[in-house]
Parts: sequence; C-alpha cells; structure tokens
Amino acid sequence: MARKLIIAANWKMNKGPAETADFIAAFLPSAQALAGECDIVIAPPFVSIPSASALLADSPVALSAQNASEQEKGAFTGEVSTAMLKETGVHHVILGHSERRSIYGEGDQLINAKVKKCLAAGLHPIFCIGETLEERESGKLQEVLRRQVSGGLAGLSNADMSTVVLAYEPVWAIGTGVTATPEQAQEAHAFVRTLVGEQFGKEVAEATRIQYGGSVKPSNSADLMAREDIDGALVGGASLEAESFRDLIANAVA
Ligand code: PGA
Repeated sequence: MARKLIIAANWKMNKGPAETADFIAAFLPSAQALAGECDIVIAPPFVSIPSASALLADSPVALSAQNASEQEKGAFTGEVSTAMLKETGVHHVILGHSERRSIYGEGDQLINAKVKKCLAAGLHPIFCIGETLEERESGKLQEVLRRQVSGGLAGLSNADMSTVVLAYEPVWAIGTGVTATPEQAQEAHAFVRTLVGEQFGKEVAEATRIQYGGSVKPSNSADLMAREDIDGALVGGASLEAESFRDLIANAVA
C-alpha cells in the first residue's frame, strides 16, 4: 500500500516566536513545492504556536504541539490542554517522546491517556516509541516496543488509528549523530507494523504511517525513506535550519 510520507520538525525547546517567524519565512516557499509529495509538519514550543499558526494559515504545512495535558481543564499548573491547542490551530501532537518518558517520567499509562485526550479533541497524535541502547543490547528491543505499543495505544478503535502516526525513535540515535542503519530501522519498523496488526488488524497496520526518528539529516533521509516500512521522519537537530529541513525533505521525496 502506498502511504504518503509525513516529515515532522520537532524543535524541542528551541525557537521563540521571532525565530519561528524567521524560519517559516525562509522555509515556506520551498514547502509549497514539496508538500504535494509529502505531508510536512512543524512542532514549535507552545509559546511560538500562535505566531506559527498565523504564518502557516493557508499553507500546506501542518502545525503540531510537542505535548498536551491528559486533563480537561483546571488546577494543573504549567499544563496546556487539547482544547487550547485546537483553538490555536494545532493539528498534530507529539506524545510519548523519549525525552518526555525519560526526563519527565511519563509512562505508558499517562501517554495512553494523552493519546485518548487528543483523539477526543480531534487532534492527531504522533505517538513515539523506541528502545534505549541498554535495552537493545540486552535483547529487549521487541519486548520494549511491544509494551510501548500495546500500552500507549490501548483502547483505541480502528477509526482512531486512521489519525495516529507512529514514530519509531531508538533513544541511542536521538541527538547523538548516530543514526540507525536503514536495515536496523526497517527491521524495527516491520516489527512495529506487526504489533499494530496484532492489535488492530492487518488493514490498519498497512495503512498506519510509521516515522523514523534519530539523527535524520539531508544526507541520510533518502536512504531511510526508501525502506518499505519507513513512512516519514521525526526530525530534531536537522529541522532547526530552514535549508537543512528543506534539503532533508527534498532528498526524501526525490
Ligand atoms: P534528532 O531528534 O533528529 O536531533 O536526533 C529526533 C527527535 O528527538 O525527535
């Protein structure tokens, strides 16, 4: 099945509103041409979302948040609700990123609650999974991915899954410059697709897009995206400069 590529910029804690505006001004002209071949998403920090939203209106680039609260509203200091994100023009939400899991202690159950909250608000989760180096080296890759997929996507319907994008990001490859080889990535992606199939059936598994993340850059995006089960990329470092993000996408769709 032909799955359209989806390439997302995860800016993490980089770029306030002014830098966001500069990036979009530089990036948008090339995005128009590339967007026919590939869904393009930008995930700025919360405070830059209104600026990005105004500048991306009527453009083919979709806006994403990097997190969302699992709560509706009220006394949750520091949190941002799905309704607020919706109001500011957000389309996707990155959930379960390894930095949220490891630094902020988010577990499968909380991530699952966030996924459901986003779906209820009509937001599209980019649901991240991936193993640490220690887990990979001790032979636990499949066990970890199985736990993350079954926990994070528990209770979702097949219809829900049509709006969910998965991102396989081996933790040892994030921000380290070490990329999984296309073979390693493909092998993990094929396994993740099997897991989705076990949970939701073959048809859903075939239709679900699975991004690869972890040191994707212009020089390796083509090779990674050429693999059968790799349907896009979640990009940190190489998405911070408009030129680099543009080249990465151009090479991926070439
Ligand atoms: P990186 O980050 O591209 O800088 O490795 C990817 C991510 O964390 O989503």
